[in-house]
Parts: sequence; C-alpha cells; structure tokens
Amino acid sequence: MSNVLKSVLLGTAFAATSVTTAVADGVELEVTHWWTSGGEAVAVSKFADAWNATGNVWVDGAIAGSGGTARPIIISRILGGDPMAATQLNHGRQAEELIEAGLMLDLTDVAEAGGWADIVNPPALLESCTLDGRVYCVPVNIHSGQWIWLSHDAYQKAGIDVPSDWNEFVATAPKLEEAGILPLAMGQQGWQQNLAFGAITIAVAGTDAWREVTVNKNADVARGPEYTAVFQAVADARELARGSNVQDWNQATNMVITGEAGGQLMGDWAQGEFAVAKQVEGQDYSCLPGLGLNQVLDTGGDAFYFPVNDDPTITAAQKELAALLISPDVQVSFNLAKGSLPVRGDIDMSTANGCMQKGLSILAEGGVLPSGDQSLSADTQTQIEDLMAQFWSGDMSAADAQERYAQLIEDAD
Ligand code: GAL
Repeated sequence: MSNVLKSVLLGTAFAATSVTTAVADGVELEVTHWWTSGGEAVAVSKFADAWNATGNVWVDGAIAGSGGTARPIIISRILGGDPMAATQLNHGRQAEELIEAGLMLDLTDVAEAGGWADIVNPPALLESCTLDGRVYCVPVNIHSGQWIWLSHDAYQKAGIDVPSDWNEFVATAPKLEEAGILPLAMGQQGWQQNLAFGAITIAVAGTDAWREVTVNKNADVARGPEYTAVFQAVADARELARGSNVQDWNQATNMVITGEAGGQLMGDWAQGEFAVAKQVEGQDYSCLPGLGLNQVLDTGGDAFYFPVNDDPTITAAQKELAALLISPDVQVSFNLAKGSLPVRGDIDMSTANGCMQKGLSILAEGGVLPSGDQSLSADTQTQIEDLMAQFWSGDMSAADAQERYAQLIEDAD
C-alpha cells in the first residue's frame, strides 16, 4: 500500500468543527482512483464534496501514476484482503475476474431503485457494469480516446492555420519543425501510445475495419491492407513525436498548453488540464474528435466498484455512495470539471464548452463505438499496450508491428 497516498479530501463546504461531527456521525469510506493530474483532482473533489456534504467522509485514496500503475495495486489489495470501500476502474472487462470471484458488491437493488436502466445513456455503459444480469458498478462518465488537442500558439508561431483534421496535421508538421516546435507530444507509456494507435486507426481505417478487428477479433483484417495503412500512419506519427521525452499524459498536454508542441492525441480528460490552465477552447486550443475525419467516440469510461465488506454499515454507505455518484447534480459538476460526458442524458449540460458540446452531439447522433476495455480482456489490452510501447519508442518496422498485432488479435479472448 506504499503507493497509496491517503488523505481526507475535505468538502469545501465544511469548517473544521463540522468535519469532526461528520467523522463522529458519518461513515468513512476509502475511495481509490488514479485521478492525480490538476484537472482530475478538481473533478474528483466534486465527488468528495458531495459525499462529505451528506455527513459521511470521503477518505481519498489517490494512487499516483496512471491506470496502469493503479490497477494492479487496487486488484492486489482486494485479492489480499485489504479492500478499499470503493474504487475507480474502467468499466468493461477489467473487473470481470473479481466479480466472478464474488469479491464485488452486487448493486442491482440500487440500480433498480434508481431506474438506471432508463437513465443510463447509451445502454452499453450499464451493460458494461452487468454480469449475468447483475449490476456491479456505477458508471460515472464516458471517456473517449479519439481526440487530438491542438495548440493555437504553436501554429501561430509557425505562421500557419490550425489544422482541421489529422491529414492536415501531418502535412503541416514540417512547418512546426522549422519553427522549432515538436509536432506531436507523446507521453512514453504504453497506454498512451495505444490510445494514439486507436485514434489513428479510426481516422485512417474507419470504424468498420476497427470494429472487425477490436470487437470481432478478425486477424485477417488486422493483417490486411487497411491496417497496413494504419501501421504506416502510426510509424509516421512516431517520427513526429521523436524527442517527446515526457512520461505522464498531463506533461504531454502541458507541452500543448505552452505551445512547445503542436498537438497531442489524448482522451477527453485533457480538457480538464486546459481548464485548470485557464485556456479557452477555440482561442488558445482546438480539439478534433475523431481527429476531424470520422466523427465517432468510444463509450469507455470510468465506473466505481465496491468490494464486498462484512460490515452492514459499510455496505449501506457503499450503496448510498453509488447512488450519489450518478445523481443529476453530481454528474453535472463532476463531468464539467473532468471534460467527460455524463452517463445520463436527462441533465443540463448547456454550460459545457465547445469540445464537450462536440462530444455531446456525436453521442446524440449515436456515433459511438465500444472501447478496447469493453471488447478485449485486460490481458489482451496489456499485451497490446506493451507492443505499442516497444513500437513507439524503438525502431520496429511497421510491417513487424502489424504482424505482431495481428497475432495478438488472433489469440485475443
Ligand atoms: C483513464 C480514465 C480517465 C483518465 C485517464 C488518465 O483510464 O478513464 O478518467 O483518468 O485514465 O488518467
């Protein structure tokens, strides 16, 4: 548990004396998550504030690093008999084995009482929390990965217009280089490199080929010409990111914020970093969902799971927290801070900025795909991320990477 940074995140509405009361009367729940960037910390404080305002206490178990660092810690604590009260995971298949082992609280009664089947939009989000007809998690957002974030400052310095799609981004990259600007910021972690691969795939090969490979696990398509074009495009993108030595995704976002880099392929959570830096969409930066070529987003995202606990007081509080996380006001405040889309369609998101509005209209038009976390097992995802880490940071040829990828798809479960 050494990586778990524990602290009580106190609700802003609470003075020291009322906190004492809350501790005395309320229930303390430790909640683990990997939301440690500036924007993410603001977003998670919305949950903490809402929970503390009920008289209970949010004991913050933020785990520094990415999901890749946090998930093994979370899982080993649950398996090792030291479970937290609630934890973030990406909805989909990540918790499958823990649920099968009977380690996760069944939330079906909470879901039924809250009418989740009627409010969760799109239904795929609730399906991803459901195993054998029982609900085991509460989805809190849709987090899509098919975005490029562009620095206006960088393009202004290079004396060119901000690109309107991926093809223009690639075509104008030499101009940025001439101006001493790195075209593509990239954090050196497999999940980020895999996210970039996924976004480029959808832009270059389109959704049919993507679905065939990622959902239907069709290795022939992964070996075929559409994916040859994808791997070539990713090899080209690798050159545009040479010299990007940062590790964390938010360090790469910062390069876009400061104009040190032209763009970053990153999920919609990047929005939170621009917000913290007080940058204005359309003025300081632009965002292109589907890289401006294919207007689709995936329905991956975050959900909270509640490890089984013997104490009925804790169990009752876990269910109360689950209901709170999906309640209308909490959905609005959390998602506005996070840059993600809410999981319910019946709330007022009119104050969302331009990027979120683009996401909301794609969602309204049904332009959604399942995420890799929803379609592939956690093992397969990790293997693909490892391959992407090797490919992006070395000099493996596009053809070799394609063949190794096709093999992983062939073996995928
Ligand atoms: C994802 C998660 C997002 C964001 C991102 C980077 O797994 O869904 O909410 O936190 O990691 O930290």
